Amino acid sequence: MKNLKAVVANWKMNHLRADVEAFCARFSAGYKQKEGVAAGIAPPFPYLELVGNKLIPAGVLLFAQNGLDKPKGAYTGEVSMAQLKDVGCYGVILGHSERRQYYGETEATLAPKIVAARENNLLPLLCIGESLAQRESNETLEVISRQLAILSQVGQGDIWIAYEPVWAIGTGRVATPAQVEEVHVFIRSETIRLLGKAGDEIPILYGGSVTPDNFPELLKTKDVGGGLVGGASLDPEKFRQLVLQTQE
Ligand code: 13P
Repeated sequence: MKNLKAVVANWKMNHLRADVEAFCARFSAGYKQKEGVAAGIAPPFPYLELVGNKLIPAGVLLFAQNGLDKPKGAYTGEVSMAQLKDVGCYGVILGHSERRQYYGETEATLAPKIVAARENNLLPLLCIGESLAQRESNETLEVISRQLAILSQVGQGDIWIAYEPVWAIGTGRVATPAQVEEVHVFIRSETIRLLGKAGDEIPILYGGSVTPDNFPELLKTKDVGGGLVGGASLDPEKFRQLVLQTQE
């Protein structure tokens, strides 16, 4: 799978039904699946089925933005991995920095979520990344290494990783290709150290202010296997362009 490239839209808490319908119509009009390149969309929970119905037939992979590790029961406000699978999800984003920052997600809460996702045949898309303060105090690689240690806890199994420097998310301040490459090469060395040969196969996506203007340069850097895109992915034309760039 090492050659698999992927671009995933993380819509976060954006769009209402009419926007979702318009997006699906406009995106699918010009989207062609290409072998070796996956396009995924992670809409808010209420629109998972709508996006799935419209775009799974075109080959788009449906992702959720979070899920709980518990199989079912009295967890008001939560959604189980089985429920995500049941509505057509292919994978689930886990550990996004916004969830770490606002909802207290930690490696301790994330490890069982990765396990539960896999048990339900959902691909975990694990997000990692350093804050601005951590980068400025030269702790980036140490933070990344600490966040990746979760891989040895959860063992072998499918996973994708997204490197999203917190200071580049939603700020318009994209990491430079050199900064991205340094961290992605380090992530690759860590995944191999922790998982052996399987660690060489994991797609590593970059996220943080990705647009069609900066994405081609980022895609050229070593060990960048695609993107996890917020703002620019809300626009169907821009997202389609990003998919096309990944397919080139
Ligand atoms: P932006 O592309 O809006 O910076 O968001 C990135 C992100 O957080 C994707 O998960």
